[in-house]
Amino acid sequence: MNAKTNVNTNTDAKRPTVLLTGAAHGIGRATALALAGRGTPLGLIDRDGPGLAALVQELRDQGATVADATVDVTDRDALFLAVAGIESQVGPTEVLLACAGIGTLTLVPELDTATLRQTLEVNLVGVAHSIEAVLPGMIARGRGHLIGVASMAGYRGFPWMISYSASKAALIAYLEALRPGLRRRGVTVTTVCPGFVRTQMSTSVPYQRPVKMIEPEDAARHLVRAVERRPRNCIFPWNMRIGLAVLRYMPDRLFDALMRLAGPQALHVEF
Ligand SMILES: NC(=O)c1ccc[n+]([C@@H]2O[C@H](COP(=O)([O-])OP(=O)(O)OC[C@H]3O[C@@H](n4cnc5c(N)ncnc54)[C@H](OP(=O)(O)O)[C@@H]3O)[C@@H](O)[C@H]2O)c1
Repeated sequence: MNAKTNVNTNTDAKRPTVLLTGAAHGIGRATALALAGRGTPLGLIDRDGPGLAALVQELRDQGATVADATVDVTDRDALFLAVAGIESQVGPTEVLLACAGIGTLTLVPELDTATLRQTLEVNLVGVAHSIEAVLPGMIARGRGHLIGVASMAGYRGFPWMISYSASKAALIAYLEALRPGLRRRGVTVTTVCPGFVRTQMSTSVPYQRPVKMIEPEDAARHLVRAVERRPRNCIFPWNMRIGLAVLRYMPDRLFDALMRLAGPQALHVEF
């Protein structure tokens, strides 16, 4: 584990401490930079040690208050230790931003339960571990904010990302089911649904046609707003809200037909 507190700080005492998982790359990295720029004390977690160290150095050069730990969110005991170490340096977690996730193609007919299990472990159980690590403190203080990063693929099953869709659907239901009981205890739950964001995860998918993507910095602006405003759902960019509404309320038969006809044309690889 690697967790050090920065010496120079520009912390605004009113800013809540944010614990961010999946901080080394992509959306998590951009959000860490955006939050630090606003004086938010940060606890950062990722399994990529060198990637995390590079980010922490950049943040410290900017005078941010940051503690970090290299840990895999699927390792519950190691994660709990890491969170305790981070909180001893930057203070109790007031906002959890669970961004760590993996996305792999799973295609018919090569179904692979090992991939399914691994995807569920990171995208569902890893988020649940992160929540468990910070929730007792939030409940004891009577306030807190849990933010889970899901996906449009969790609202409908996309035939080229079967395991990923299943993991994000489970995460959406998990967060929704947590919401009422936690609200009574002062803890808010936000479900994030980003559109396509240009990161390693999305650019590695062999789409046949160019896909319009927003930059991680744009996604970070939405996540910073979610931290500040605590909405139930955070869906971005704006056209994703329309796309998601259409998808969610599309009759099942129409969705099935669309995926049967258009689905196989989405990728360069066959399924
Ligand atoms: N990009 C999109 O278009 C998009 C759209 C919808 C939702 N999302 C969701 O947004 C989140 C961030 O995605 P991204 O596109 O920013 O992906 P990314 O660029 O691959 O970044 C994900 C980060 O999480 C880390 N991570 C993965 N598994 C971990 C684990 N078990 N423990 C600790 N850290 C772990 C990764 O480390 P490694 O580099 O070592 O894997 C990486 O640093 C994910 O939950 C993803 O499902 C993304």
